[in-house]
Amino acid sequence: MRLLVTGGAGFIGSNFVRCILEKRKDIRIIVLDALTYAGNLDNFPGWVWEDANFCFFHGDIRDETLVRNLMRNTDKVIHFAAETHVDRSIDNSDPFISTDIKGTQVLLETIRKEPVERFIHISTSEVYGTTEKVPMDEEHPLKPQSPYAAAKAGADRLAYSFFFTYDLPLIIIRPFNNYGPNQFPEKLIPLFITNAMEEKPLPVYGTGKNTRDWIYVKDCVKAFEKLLDVDVKKIKGEVINLGSGKDTNVLTIADTILGELGKDKSLIKFVADRLGHVKRHISSTEKAKKVIGWEAETDFQKGLISTIKWYKENEEWLRKIKEGKREYKEIYEKWYRL
Ligand SMILES: NC(=O)c1ccc[n+]([C@@H]2O[C@H](COP(=O)([O-])OP(=O)(O)OC[C@H]3O[C@@H](n4cnc5c(N)ncnc54)[C@H](O)[C@@H]3O)[C@@H](O)[C@H]2O)c1
Repeated sequence: MRLLVTGGAGFIGSNFVRCILEKRKDIRIIVLDALTYAGNLDNFPGWVWEDANFCFFHGDIRDETLVRNLMRNTDKVIHFAAETHVDRSIDNSDPFISTDIKGTQVLLETIRKEPVERFIHISTSEVYGTTEKVPMDEEHPLKPQSPYAAAKAGADRLAYSFFFTYDLPLIIIRPFNNYGPNQFPEKLIPLFITNAMEEKPLPVYGTGKNTRDWIYVKDCVKAFEKLLDVDVKKIKGEVINLGSGKDTNVLTIADTILGELGKDKSLIKFVADRLGHVKRHISSTEKAKKVIGWEAETDFQKGLISTIKWYKENEEWLRKIKEGKREYKEIYEKWYRL
């Protein structure tokens, strides 16, 4: 089976690629990634490049010719590529509209001409906005609260329209907050871990009481693998949440990380709240259980400890980003002014 993975050099995509290559000899992976600041070839260790089932194309999902050429030889698609950082979208929404909506449209138009067996569209729980009922199921109203969330909601509904209008095999997945190895350190958990390691302040928005439903990326990747295999008739046109059904607030995360690393609580620094900040997220887990037989396995505390261990053991990966990536320094200095 030939699987096109867009955005495979990013956080979730690279965890997915490594997991599939390790476990499955029946899948040939073709990664298409533009290598934005968030894409990182260091997410693929040497053994990945040596695997005959791995193939990497440096290119943009908005490039219609390239996408069409790749799609011609594709059986299934999993579409991760996106601009993904809420804070950056508040600063400048342009790249979000362009990649997340226009890029998705290019892929969808392409599968009208070059049909595939299934197209798994990775949306996000951010499309819901703050929880109006607990837990949040797939029927929860869509009230995106940031330009990122709005762009993803546009792409999510565009994907649905291509199922509805053209009867294409679209499946829309809404993961809640992922954490784990290889996450770019602008995102909350790796930012807190790496700052704590360096005894730098941990910037906490507002009161720190906002909560999210956190899933360990390796659990999420297992759900994606199931989505490759389950009978397409069962999932075509469906929207499925991937969450743990539990939520944890930011202050608790900061406390736990500092505790695990033996650092002083005085490193916590409260900063002005994020504009449009989502207050609470907690996923219903029913549909994922029922339709694909998946539920999150990793307890948050355990997943967090494994993640801390990974960042401690991969200082070189981290150093290259923190010292080398201009985009990291810019957003950090502009955003938190610490
Ligand atoms: N991280 C989370 O907690 C989370 C939660 C829910 C949903 N999601 C969704 O999952 C997907 C992956 O998220 P992530 O955290 O791994 O993101 P990421 O920012 O780490 O990676 C995104 C990848 O997409 C690539 N990319 C960006 N623009 C591109 C373009 N125009 N053409 C080709 N490639 C491009 C980047 O180079 C990068 O490798 C995204 O669609 C995101 O919205 C993420």
